[in-house]
Amino acid sequence: MSMSFNGYFNGRRIILDERKLSNEYVPVKLPHRRTQIEETLSILQDVYRGQKKILRTVIYSGPSGTGKTAVARSIGKEIKEKSDQGKMPPILVSYINAHEYRTKFQVLRKLGNDSGLDIPRRGFSSEELTQYVLNFIDRRGHNLIIILDEADIIAKLGDGNDLLYVFSRLNEILPEIRMGVGLIVIFRQLEESLEYLDKAVVSSLSARVVRFDPYTSSQLEDILWSRIQADKAIKEEAVSEEIISMIADTVGYVPETKTGLGDARISLKILYYAALKAEEEGKDVILPEHVRYVMNKGVLPSYIDEEMIEKLSLHEKLILLAVTELLLAEKEKAYVNMGTVVLQYEDVCNRFGEKPLKYTRVWETVQMLKKLGFIDARIGRSTYRGKTTLISIPNASENSEVGINRIPLSVLEKILRDSISRELNARQRGEKPPQE
Ligand SMILES: Nc1ncnc2c1ncn2[C@@H]1O[C@H](COP(=O)(O)OP(=O)(O)OP(=O)(O)O)[C@@H](O)[C@H]1O
Ligand SMILES: [Mg+2]
Repeated sequence: MSMSFNGYFNGRRIILDERKLSNEYVPVKLPHRRTQIEETLSILQDVYRGQKKILRTVIYSGPSGTGKTAVARSIGKEIKEKSDQGKMPPILVSYINAHEYRTKFQVLRKLGNDSGLDIPRRGFSSEELTQYVLNFIDRRGHNLIIILDEADIIAKLGDGNDLLYVFSRLNEILPEIRMGVGLIVIFRQLEESLEYLDKAVVSSLSARVVRFDPYTSSQLEDILWSRIQADKAIKEEAVSEEIISMIADTVGYVPETKTGLGDARISLKILYYAALKAEEEGKDVILPEHVRYVMNKGVLPSYIDEEMIEKLSLHEKLILLAVTELLLAEKEKAYVNMGTVVLQYEDVCNRFGEKPLKYTRVWETVQMLKKLGFIDARIGRSTYRGKTTLISIPNASENSEVGINRIPLSVLEKILRDSISRELNARQRGEKPPQE
């Protein structure tokens, strides 16, 4: 059964379905978002169960890539499907992205279009349009759920106040309307956006706020595996634990230090581009070097360039070269043990005729390289799919593993060798004093 049928028909080596890696795709499962989903459903339940003359509002708040849009869309999709199948009362679910529909008029027009109305661009005032659209939906006996995404922008632009006021006071403004309305308003920076809104709006909007925190690396691992296994976006055999952990560790949020992006979109993007890079090279598996290549292409807010490497101290470069050499020797591995690094580093020093630093200094230098973003260190662990077992306390150097995730080793190795040789030559010629 070398060529089974499940998805191999597209003839690609690694990617099974490109669409499933795009932003618009709503994944079949949303790991680590169960609380947010349950909370939303409980707030909206009267609305999707058909109760009239009610308004229920939920506000989503959280940084980029934390699943706000995905959760809202997946809830909307599910409610719509149940309603279409006759398992729930008739409902209209309208998804409106405020980046696309920026004014009150445009938002209402989109709502009208979603309900099947054809609305001219002119000829209506936005008040008339409000009446017209909402009456239309109401007359059909539908309830309504509006997902207003990226609402930050609408809060900042002129008539956001007006729009949110109308939505939050529907039953007072249009007393003849009977339908029940559910509102999910999504903000990236809630506190900042609220400052742009009038007090009256803020108070009438007084809704439950559902928080979306950045994802930790182990949560990102689950999300990435889920996209591979449940959604079948990528061939499972093409991806190793090492690859997923590499991406998740680099992007994951660390609560203790409050560092790391915790952004699922970026982690999926890295996986996707690494898969493309591997395919482009005619490979059947994604290798750490493909991930490094992608990480260095500017998908991360800070990435490493030649100038940054030049600025490192000599022993920082020597240690980095030692890690590079070890990783180059093992194509499929993304991390090497700290003990091995020390041995390799001593070897590198010998080759360049340089006296190696003591162990504690090497360890400090590694920590510095980590802070500078050159090295990605993790605590040694045994991983098996989706679960991570720490085998030691954090920062214990013997159990640490280090990797280089943000720049291709082939590029790094060359820059380091050139730069180290140049520095040592300059020193020999007496142009540069030895460091410490
Ligand atoms: N828990 C999750 N499980 C599976 N996929 C997820 C999860 N969270 C986010 N994603 C995926 O990550 C990407 C980004 O998520 P989403 O668009 O929901 O972020 P967001 O919070 O709306 O960010 P922004 O504020 O930038 O709009 C999407 O492709 C989404 O499918
Ligand atoms: Mg979003």
